[in-house]
Amino acid sequence: MTIQPTGAGHIAPVTVDAPEPGAVTVVIPTFNEAANVRELLRRVAASVPARLPCEVVFVDDSTDDTPTVIADAARDCAFPVSVIHRDTPDGGLGGAVIEGMKAATSPWIVVMDADLQHPPDLIPGLVATGEEQHADLVVASRYLPGGSRAGLAGGYRVAVSRGATRLAKGLFPRALRGISDPMSGFFAIRRETVTGAVTAEALKPLGYKILLELAVRRRPRQVAEVPFVFQDRFAGESKSTAKEGLRFLRHLVELRTASPLARMVAFGAIGLTGFVPNLAALYGLTGAGLHYLPAELLANQLGVAWNFLLIEVLLFRDRRHHRHWADRAGRFALLANADLVLRIPLIALFVGQFHMTVLPATTLALLTTFVLRFAGTEALVYLPRRTRGARTGRNPR
Ligand code: GDD
Ligand code: MN
Repeated sequence: MTIQPTGAGHIAPVTVDAPEPGAVTVVIPTFNEAANVRELLRRVAASVPARLPCEVVFVDDSTDDTPTVIADAARDCAFPVSVIHRDTPDGGLGGAVIEGMKAATSPWIVVMDADLQHPPDLIPGLVATGEEQHADLVVASRYLPGGSRAGLAGGYRVAVSRGATRLAKGLFPRALRGISDPMSGFFAIRRETVTGAVTAEALKPLGYKILLELAVRRRPRQVAEVPFVFQDRFAGESKSTAKEGLRFLRHLVELRTASPLARMVAFGAIGLTGFVPNLAALYGLTGAGLHYLPAELLANQLGVAWNFLLIEVLLFRDRRHHRHWADRAGRFALLANADLVLRIPLIALFVGQFHMTVLPATTLALLTTFVLRFAGTEALVYLPRRTRGARTGRNPR
């Protein structure tokens, strides 16, 4: 296998023969892990038995000398080791893992961290469990009997991790059934689960939770779990930040709103939150002595601006690049105000022509303009200009 250079920093492509069935490619994302990679490779070498053909692919976004240290340490390894260094860290940790998976050639892929919090001696066990149980995905879990989070520093991180797990499982009860630790960064997956099935949803990794991404978008048929003890970091510090936490929430929203129906529900929920700034502004403006009609008009614009911001950040983040932000804001505001203007004649039509009473007519008008506004926002604000309708197959990140 030869890994194509992906950037100037690419080093040491390694050529091997096609691996036997059951062989494993270990994909390891690295971001400034120079002090860990030598010990990591030593332990991988000590853990993987000769009968399990293995190769290691590092996907590196480091600003330190991690790639050189890996290349140096790789000389002592009996198995092929390669490094893909990326010039731009697209998708962060998750993007790196997908990049490594694309380069993998073995039927099994094991994903693990470089800091030895994931014990390498579990690599053969993960693959063996997958083979025995005919599973597509084997998760190393901290929450099974025999597993633990010993290395998760401090009560704060334990609580955050617990909360994140509950939230994810609550949002994706079906996709995460049978996975007690969807936040785990240590798992084995059959390569065909990642690369196969053209009909499956495209992957759009975003930050740390790559297992969540794979479980939700690729839906492995059979899932198994193996307990593991999350160790202390061997050297260096965690690269996870508060920003990574926000990225996780965005990732959840993106996964949850992948279908048009789910997006419409989210659009409606965001619309409802717009009442808060709207009413607050109305209260403030009329309190300051403004006549209620212009106050209504102004307050409504504040609600529109609020909705626009949330929709931009949460719902259409990956579709913003087709138009300038001012263009999008203008179109969005136009649609929102058209909604108000359209509602009254619509109610008149329902009452006058269809002999409905006022309340059902108003409800129906509200629903109609809501659906129109959602469809209009998708089509006129966030769809590509020329190739309208062609929504799949692009991943701008
Ligand atoms: N290529 C690349 N790019 N690698 C990265 C990046 C990035 O932007 N950010 C982090 N990494 C690498 C690190 O170098 C390390 O090898 C691995 O990803 C995990 O990073 P840590 O910073 O050590 O993460 P953690 O220990 O806080 O979190 C780990 O445990 C969590 C469970 O609590 C990760 O495995 C999480 O996915 C997991 O949820
Ligand atoms: Mn770590």
